[in-house]
Amino acid sequence: MFFDLSTFDTKSISMKFFIDTANLSHIQEAADLGILDGVTTNPSLMAKEGVKGKDNILKHYEAICQIVDGDVSAEVLSTDMDSMIAEGKELAAIHTNIVVKVPMIKDGVKAIKWFSDNGIRTNCTLVFSAGQAILAAKAGAAYVSPFIGRIDDSSWDGIELIGQIAHIYSVQGFSTEILAASIRNPLHIVRSAEAGAHVCTCPLDSILGLLKHPLTDIGLAKFLEDAKKM
Ligand code: G3P
Repeated sequence: MFFDLSTFDTKSISMKFFIDTANLSHIQEAADLGILDGVTTNPSLMAKEGVKGKDNILKHYEAICQIVDGDVSAEVLSTDMDSMIAEGKELAAIHTNIVVKVPMIKDGVKAIKWFSDNGIRTNCTLVFSAGQAILAAKAGAAYVSPFIGRIDDSSWDGIELIGQIAHIYSVQGFSTEILAASIRNPLHIVRSAEAGAHVCTCPLDSILGLLKHPLTDIGLAKFLEDAKKM
């Protein structure tokens, strides 16, 4: 493990919970829990909800922003800098909470720099290495999204990367927030928190999975049974 917590100002971290979905009822359910700080989406998640066509996509982001009072990542679909900027401007105009999600490619880095210079916040996505995270931070991304589940899928350690980026950002004083993405289970959330992630974006199942412990259920059943004797 690469956790050198001695370099952390731990008081400054209070991990935020984002939900990683474009499903409005999942977003509402997580918001109703009272612990939701934001939302991330991507083209695959939007397609899964059957959102098609530019107007519907923009309306869907608007609907998400009505449910959650927090940052909502909306991803650009272009891959050249000028088109990404045009698209990002349009997305950012939907709501002040929109964060433009930009892929970690050469034109993406240039676009992130442009957005940062022009007051538009970005989330640099598809990050799989510390080098990419350094570039995103240098370009001025508000968030960097390491995909920890997909790293684990490649038999590397996604959490190790979170720890490494947290260490580098802390040592170097980068203000970019680490957004642990591609979360697959509750343990990923716990270990992301441990490794110094500022944000964890999770499917609803993983968030609800944090609730589960058999001893809680057994203990509650016993309390309720004994309460009848009171
Ligand atoms: O936040 C990124 C996420 O949506 C990707 O998750 O499970 O497709 O790797 P996954």
